[in-house]
Amino acid sequence: MIMVKNIFINIQVVSNVHYVNLDTVTKDLNPKLEEFIRNKGDEMERKTNVKADMTHYQTVCEPFEELHKIIMPYVGQFFCLQAKNPDTEIFLPEFFETWGAIYRKGDYTDRHVHEPSKLSWIYYVKASPQSAPLHLHQIINEKGERETFQIPPKTSDLVIFPSWTPHSVPTQESDEERICVAGNVNLPLDKDKSQKYYDMFKK
Ligand SMILES: [Fe+2]
Repeated sequence: MIMVKNIFINIQVVSNVHYVNLDTVTKDLNPKLEEFIRNKGDEMERKTNVKADMTHYQTVCEPFEELHKIIMPYVGQFFCLQAKNPDTEIFLPEFFETWGAIYRKGDYTDRHVHEPSKLSWIYYVKASPQSAPLHLHQIINEKGERETFQIPPKTSDLVIFPSWTPHSVPTQESDEERICVAGNVNLPLDKDKSQKYYDMFKK
C-alpha cells in the first residue's frame, strides 16, 4: 500500500450545538433509564475515554428505544434547523450506537471525538448544579482565541452536536451521581423514509 501523508491543520469551523429540556415528556422514563444503566454496571471496565461506569457502546433495550423515539425529531432536525428550513426538511436518524454511563466522585472523560459518526447526542437522566459540565474544546471566541465552552448538565437536557466536536467531562467533584445516555446516529438521505417519519411525528 502506498504511504498516506497526514497533514494536520488547525482550522476554524462552525460547530453548531443544540440543547433542549425534555422534562415534560421524559420524567416517567428517567427512573427506567436509571435502573437499566445501574443494573448494567461497568461493562466497559474504563477501557474507553469514559472513566466512569459505562454500558456497552451498542446497547439495545426498551428504555433506550423509548428515548430514541422521543429525541428522534430533535436529532432529525439538526441539520435542517441549521439550514433554517425546519418545516420542509427532516432526516430519519438511525441510532446505531447508544450507551449509558454513571459518573461518581472522581470520574471523568478524556477529550475525544466521535468520528466517523456524523452526529452525536447526550441526554442527562440525572444531574444537579454540582455535576461536572460537558466541555467542548477548540471554540474560538470573539478575540480569535481558543477556549473551552462549558455546558452545565441538567436532568432531562438533550445536547446534540456534530461528532467531530472535541469534548470531555472534567472530574466529577460532587458526591451525587451524574447519569447520562449518549449515542451516535447516521442521517441517511432517504426522502421517502424521512417523509413517513415526519408525518408520524406531526400527528
Ligand atoms: Fe463523547
